[in-house]
Amino acid sequence: MEGSLAGKVAAVFGIANQRSIAFGIAQNLAACGARLALSYQNERMGKSIDKLAEDLGNPWRRECDVTQDSAVAEFFGAVRDDFGRCDIVVHSVATAKREELGGSFLDTSWEGFALAQEVSAFSLVRLCKHAAPMLEEANGSVLALTYLGSERVVPNYNVMGVAKASLESCVRYLASDLGPRGVRVNAISAGPIRTLSASGVSDLVTMLNFVAEKSPMRRNVTIDEVGKAARFLLSDEASGVTGQILFVDSGYHIMGM
Ligand SMILES: NC(=O)c1ccc[n+]([C@@H]2O[C@H](COP(=O)([O-])OP(=O)(O)OC[C@H]3O[C@@H](n4cnc5c(N)ncnc54)[C@H](O)[C@@H]3O)[C@@H](O)[C@H]2O)c1
Repeated sequence: MEGSLAGKVAAVFGIANQRSIAFGIAQNLAACGARLALSYQNERMGKSIDKLAEDLGNPWRRECDVTQDSAVAEFFGAVRDDFGRCDIVVHSVATAKREELGGSFLDTSWEGFALAQEVSAFSLVRLCKHAAPMLEEANGSVLALTYLGSERVVPNYNVMGVAKASLESCVRYLASDLGPRGVRVNAISAGPIRTLSASGVSDLVTMLNFVAEKSPMRRNVTIDEVGKAARFLLSDEASGVTGQILFVDSGYHIMGM
């Protein structure tokens, strides 16, 4: 895979720190020769990324809150100005009210529901809308991150499970819209990984232990394993693959009992 992404420009959304899945993906894309254009949510995340910059070859980076249409437009405008192209978009962004990632789903508020949908699902549509002209020129590829809680009930995942169901449907509709323009859209459904966002889900430790005990591979996955699958889906190796959800979860999702 070395050099397989040489000359390509990858816009990566969602690095908060060295535990972030997006960090594992960015490392793998850079190792394959991609040039990185990183986006971070706010100044605090920017400082966190500054500390990781050396590991990623001191990449280009810019603040972008994905709930702000103008910020996303400016981000991709700056990518065009500075790189002249965008081949890859990685959407590794999600949020929900902490108090709604536990307890009863019945207690979900409209505000919490709308927040989870806007940040975790609709933002993929927004990124694709603004990146589409450059992705079309490059025969580009888009990747989102999802979780099994979209299709099965996972205790405490609640409002985020519904947002992930929406995100996965967005992947399929976007794949259909952008396919004729030569752009592929896929998602990876990762097993639980201890990250900043995941620690907001009540009883994450039980989820991790359960997968380690019950999955075919009897362990959890790493951000590097997600990164390796991402570089496959985002490279020409996967040129015939679109609209798919690829599980990178030690096989956990196949088990019935
Ligand atoms: N960790 C897991 O167990 C797991 C499993 C499956 C899928 N995922 C998904 O992987 C993705 C990455 O999550 P992670 O686990 O690496 O956690 P993380 O906390 O490291 O990353 C989440 C990122 O979302 C960003 N974000 C939130 N609101 C934003 C906004 N308004 N604008 C811009 N950025 C915003 C945060 O700044 C952060 O960088 C998410 O979509 C998550 O749902 C995580």
